[in-house]
Amino acid sequence: MSATIIDGKAIGQAVNMDTQLEVAELMKQGVQPGLAVVLIGEDPASQVYVNMKDKKCRELGIYSDKRVLPRDATMERVLALIDELNHDPRVHGILVQSPPPPQIDEERVIAAIDPAKDVDCFHELNVGKLLIGKTDGFRPCTPAGVLEILARSGVDPAGRHAVIIGRSNIVGKPLAAMLMQKARGANATVTVVHSGTPDPARYTRDADILIAALGKPEFIKGEMIKPGAVVIDVGINRIPDPSRPSGTRLVGDVEFESAREVASMITPVPGGVGPLTIAMLMRNTVAACRRALAGGARC
Ligand code: GUN
Repeated sequence: MSATIIDGKAIGQAVNMDTQLEVAELMKQGVQPGLAVVLIGEDPASQVYVNMKDKKCRELGIYSDKRVLPRDATMERVLALIDELNHDPRVHGILVQSPPPPQIDEERVIAAIDPAKDVDCFHELNVGKLLIGKTDGFRPCTPAGVLEILARSGVDPAGRHAVIIGRSNIVGKPLAAMLMQKARGANATVTVVHSGTPDPARYTRDADILIAALGKPEFIKGEMIKPGAVVIDVGINRIPDPSRPSGTRLVGDVEFESAREVASMITPVPGGVGPLTIAMLMRNTVAACRRALAGGARC
């Protein structure tokens, strides 16, 4: 069997088109959704991600407020900026690019973000709401992108065994919470495999839906996958490749060539989950704007 390759770019574009229409609708009511993206330091990968977010905002008609602080910025400076953005009526969503430099206490920064503007869903209030199934918070962008891919690919997780490899706060843990909810597009039996799990293959081989989010290049091989499983690869890893002019290439957490022979559907890297992460961020920003409008705030 050779798996159907899921086109994350096309799915992301479809989501973005819906968002663009919603932005146009809000503009007719005299309000423009706005997103502030904060970058502390000069990490090259973070610079790329922040610029992609800024560009996508502009494409969709969302106001973008990109703030770059120097690598040696103090906690006081970062917290003062968050306070400013919390009170800025043009800004409905705030995102602080992770990871920040070592002198910055990321937990304190996230806790300082107004939960109503926490479009990343990193604030503990929103993470708690997600866990108990309340829908008036936000859905974190990458896990929401995974669920969107499943839904738009006709894969219903209800009653299926979903195995997540990785327990990060950004992907693994929230995704487990989302997939186990008694809700449409979820209701799965969820197993989380992590670095403390002896013999991960024992669990991955039983997965109807296998989601790799551990950050290890090509960790999941075809032989670890149940025939016919749906494989979602969240990993983005740059590895050496002397055959390329750049000397490197991007791979996921799944060994694509062996996995595609076993799976029924698989996301590629790049062009799988990646485009959905930003699409979900844009969607969350529009949702935050709508809520601010409904709550009587000036936008
Ligand atoms: N760094 C890697 N992924 C993310 C994300 O989803 N949000 C933020 N703020 N930083 C990240």
